[in-house]
Amino acid sequence: MAKDWWKAVVFYEIYVPSFKDSDGDGVGDLKGISQKLDYLVDLGVEGLWLTPFYLSPKVDNGYDIADYFTIDPVYGTMEDFESLIEQAHKRGIKVIADLVVNHTSTEHAWFQEARKSKVNAKRDWYIWRKKPNNWTSFFGGSAWEWEEATKEFYYHSFAKEQADLNWQNPEVEQAIFEVIDYWLEKGLDGFRLDVINNLTVAHEFQDNPFDQQGSQVHLHDVNQKGIYAVLEKIVARIKAKNPAAFTVGEISSDKLARIHSYAKENLFDVTFNFNLGSIKTWEAKAVFTQLEAMENQFSEGNYPTLFFGSHDMARLYTRLAENDLAMAKMIALLMLSARGIPFIYFGEEIGMQNFVPQNIQEMKDVQSIQEYDRLRRAGLDSKEALRQANQVNRDQSRNPMNWSKESFTEGVPWLGAGAEQPQPIAELYEWYQQIITFRKKGAVAQYPYKKLSYTKDVIWFQRGSYLLVFNFSKQAFELNEKVIAVVMASSLRVSNTLVPAKTAIIYKVEE
Ligand code: NOJ
Ligand code: MG
Repeated sequence: MAKDWWKAVVFYEIYVPSFKDSDGDGVGDLKGISQKLDYLVDLGVEGLWLTPFYLSPKVDNGYDIADYFTIDPVYGTMEDFESLIEQAHKRGIKVIADLVVNHTSTEHAWFQEARKSKVNAKRDWYIWRKKPNNWTSFFGGSAWEWEEATKEFYYHSFAKEQADLNWQNPEVEQAIFEVIDYWLEKGLDGFRLDVINNLTVAHEFQDNPFDQQGSQVHLHDVNQKGIYAVLEKIVARIKAKNPAAFTVGEISSDKLARIHSYAKENLFDVTFNFNLGSIKTWEAKAVFTQLEAMENQFSEGNYPTLFFGSHDMARLYTRLAENDLAMAKMIALLMLSARGIPFIYFGEEIGMQNFVPQNIQEMKDVQSIQEYDRLRRAGLDSKEALRQANQVNRDQSRNPMNWSKESFTEGVPWLGAGAEQPQPIAELYEWYQQIITFRKKGAVAQYPYKKLSYTKDVIWFQRGSYLLVFNFSKQAFELNEKVIAVVMASSLRVSNTLVPAKTAIIYKVEE
């Protein structure tokens, strides 16, 4: 297998509980994914990223792992997993999965041991302190939780049910190496490494400073000394097992140079850049600025990632396209033709929209539930607390896939029961198919940008012998370039170099 197979692949993120339910319990599962592989082939994706399917109490929906070697029964069995890998490989689809090693569930046997006594052999696998410092959890509130039994606090950078592993302890490293080996032997083609620059923290435990808006600056709990050395060892272990394994690191940072610093030889193949992916509304100028910055930062053969959706942010169709098909088509083409490795979030291709819980019972995301409770304690009424909590609610994009005709499940779906989803948009699906095919033919993927440009809500660039123009504005745009022909357009009203409002066009040009 070529070592750099991933350079030509369009990835597709599957949020496992929400993709396809095969047994009517209302929760998506591994068998369900197998049943839909032909759909994915038809769409044209060749790489899947599966969110956690390991045994978990699911406080954070699987990002709280209780046993790294067991499939959670709600998602199926080990046979289902092996069969999924086999069926995917048969169809030329590679599969990567989440590796969540910053923390475990507090239900993990390691933590259960660790919490027993201060002298327990596993005590030092986690991070304990007599006194907390001011570090806050990424879900809000203190990152320290008191344990009455041993009279110390343990550190959790996410929910209190997700205890951070102590990566200064070499035994932790060895234990995780076994996890890596195990899943690669099962046939996984790589990993998406969860919050991976959080792995080490400063063991002087200095308080973090605050910025001018009063938010905590995570100075001492992310990107700490020794992080690169630890990650190099993890990557070396992965590549030793499977030199062609692909690694994508989730880096929590808004500094592109930092994000890039983790994507190089001996580190990850690519890293997620949330500066592009999680913008709140569509602004062509801001998107262009990111594309340009990525171009300056990443050299030839070194790729940024491209995505506008995930299980941690509101859906592209609602948030960025504002329910406008023309916009959704343009954004999709930009994502699939810019320089980088694209990740489609499931449902994007049929125009799935946000799910917004109407009461607290419908809310499942630990982050927004915590926020709701905090707001209630601060005295807000339930309606206002719900409204504000919904703004950080990740349930918005986790609603079950809206398969055409057949529903998600015969049972009651685990999230969004009864909520209406508009019909899947066939025109959008076909557009995704066409542009993925265009990309896969190598039409653009392997070429550097020529004249990456911007003016008044219009972005354009040439790659190889194709010029791609995205007119996000409300006016037609006269393109001042010599073109040979129109290859494809996102709307029908195209007459050569006059690009109608809200239209993207691919032109054939002289190389
Ligand atoms: C990032 C994951 O994408 C998110 O869903 C999760 O809550 C945190 N990491 C903690 O594992
Ligand atoms: Mg099921």
